Amino acid sequence: MSNIAIFASGSGSNAEQIIKYFSEDSEHAVKLILSNKADAYVLKRAENLSVPSVVFDRQTFYNTSQVLDTLLAAEIDIIVLAGFLWLVPDYLLTTFPQRIINIHPALLPDFGGKGMYGARVHEAVIREGRKKSGITIHLIDEEYDRGRILFQAECPVLPDDTPDDLAARIHQLEHRHFPETIKAYLQTLHAL
Ligand code: GRF
Repeated sequence: MSNIAIFASGSGSNAEQIIKYFSEDSEHAVKLILSNKADAYVLKRAENLSVPSVVFDRQTFYNTSQVLDTLLAAEIDIIVLAGFLWLVPDYLLTTFPQRIINIHPALLPDFGGKGMYGARVHEAVIREGRKKSGITIHLIDEEYDRGRILFQAECPVLPDDTPDDLAARIHQLEHRHFPETIKAYLQTLHAL
């Protein structure tokens, strides 16, 4: 049995897909949603799906052990970042080595790094005239958007695409592939 915690800062459509996917899984479960934004819609989704949630601020996250204590008390094995915008502090990387998974809405290593999130990513892809974009699911380390890539999937960038059009296409890819990529990775961990 693996217990999953999801960190999210925004809408949480990926978090919802992951919760639903694992609600039918006898070996893994989403135990906790954590957010740095008290008004993030992900918290509403968590409530609707009966998953407990925790909100923390910057000071708590970076200068106290409260978040870590919460994760340990819930016996969390793996952390999923689903639209979480803050850099993960060292104490989490140390406590969860190779056990923090992020999703990025582009084909890394392109269009990643500090400040590259949300619409900015899609705007940059369109501005550069790229013909394709996609998603990258990867383990995280001390730098933004680096770490071992677990999965990538591509989609076309169409000539008239707005950043919103591209974001919608990317979200579809994310919802289809993120839960099953987490599951596949959990199975490789169990096989070790
Ligand atoms: C996703 O596009 C993800 O790739 C990025 O943030 C977005 C989160 O969307 N890191 P949602 O909150 O899951 O709808």
